[in-house]
Amino acid sequence: MRRKLVAANWKMNGDKAANSALLTAFVQGIDTAAVDAVVFPPAVYLDQVASAVAGSGIRYGIQNVHSAEKGAYTGEISLGMVKDFGADYVLVGHSERRELFAESDSVVAGKVQAALAAGVVPMLCVGETLAEREADQTEAVVGRQLQAVLDIVGIDAFATIVIAYEPVWAIGTGKTASPEQAQAVHAFIRGLLAQASESVAGKCQVLYGGSVKASSAQELFQQPDIDGGLVGGASLLADEFVAICQAAKGV
Ligand code: PGA
Repeated sequence: MRRKLVAANWKMNGDKAANSALLTAFVQGIDTAAVDAVVFPPAVYLDQVASAVAGSGIRYGIQNVHSAEKGAYTGEISLGMVKDFGADYVLVGHSERRELFAESDSVVAGKVQAALAAGVVPMLCVGETLAEREADQTEAVVGRQLQAVLDIVGIDAFATIVIAYEPVWAIGTGKTASPEQAQAVHAFIRGLLAQASESVAGKCQVLYGGSVKASSAQELFQQPDIDGGLVGGASLLADEFVAICQAAKGV
């Protein structure tokens, strides 16, 4: 039985005071015995998050990483640094990274490979744009994004990798994919993994992301192939995020 995982992607939001209030509410409100919870703050706040969630079972990670170990990469952060702060996860290939920072499938695959080698769990984001969905290209795009990683790390690595399916048209738009639309793509993703290994496909946590709210979470999480959510906007609201974690616990 796969555990549900709910992740907070704060993106480039927050400050020390706001983070502190949110983290206090998360620690009080989230039952980590029943659901995996992960917070992705802006990197400069990793240490604050580490202290605030210590002993709570809430885990944390970074929103982006460089695949090299160290060196002359001004402005970048390595996996070793992330681990130095006790982080367990790294988001890789978020659509904002792919679109705004021109991350290609092969750059994304390289980051997944580096994270695995460092013992940090990559949360690999995939998803189609509205134009791609309207052109009936959803499976082709998601399949291509996954295959690029499969080709580099192999199927067994997917027992460790977390996948987040995030249709780009649903991110930050208030337009959630319907539970049926999301489930269809999740089933496609799991089927693609199953072609290589049924057992790995059965283990891999596949999250949905894109305007998840407390009001939509439960129906999404009830779908057989949806193992939780990657939450942006609603993760900046303590009551909303705690309620989303409750919804994951309840199904
Ligand atoms: P959203 O963001 O919940 O604000 O749509 C999700 C994400 O980008 O991970």
